[in-house]
Amino acid sequence: MIRVLFVCLGNICRSPMAEAVFMNKVRNAGLTAEIGADSAGTGSWHVGKPPHQGVAQILKARGIPTQHKARMIRVSDLNEYDYVITMDDENWSDVLRMPSGTAKMARLMEFAPELGVREVPDPYHTGRFNDVYRLIEEACNGLLAKIRADLQV
Ligand code: 4NP
Repeated sequence: MIRVLFVCLGNICRSPMAEAVFMNKVRNAGLTAEIGADSAGTGSWHVGKPPHQGVAQILKARGIPTQHKARMIRVSDLNEYDYVITMDDENWSDVLRMPSGTAKMARLMEFAPELGVREVPDPYHTGRFNDVYRLIEEACNGLLAKIRADLQV
């Protein structure tokens, strides 16, 4: 199984949205035996909380389920996951400061090069959850296509 860990700062907005959107695509493709995902934050403020209301509304409107409760990224994640996918430059450098493991690191927006965007911006203070959803939706298509090509499924 290929395991993907999405990482943001608080693990209540961007990365749980990415996890839910990505796994919805995996389920729709019938690939839950081949591909799994989780999400985590680099910060501890919101540990144990469900996704932010702005995220929950968007997912609910699209019939995308989530059971996630916020957790912090652990050193062991960098060996237990195949891909660690960060949202912005701050998450990227925070993860790079941890002892490295076998996981391949990537920025989510690398998987939607046609959008010309490097970061998924933090919506916590701006409320721009719909913009974040559009970026995540597009990049998750690209990420799933890449993993399917690698697995030949
Ligand atoms: P996230 O958003 O990293 O996408 O989950 C944030 C959530 C909380 C905070 C910052 C960003 N915060 O400062 O508490």
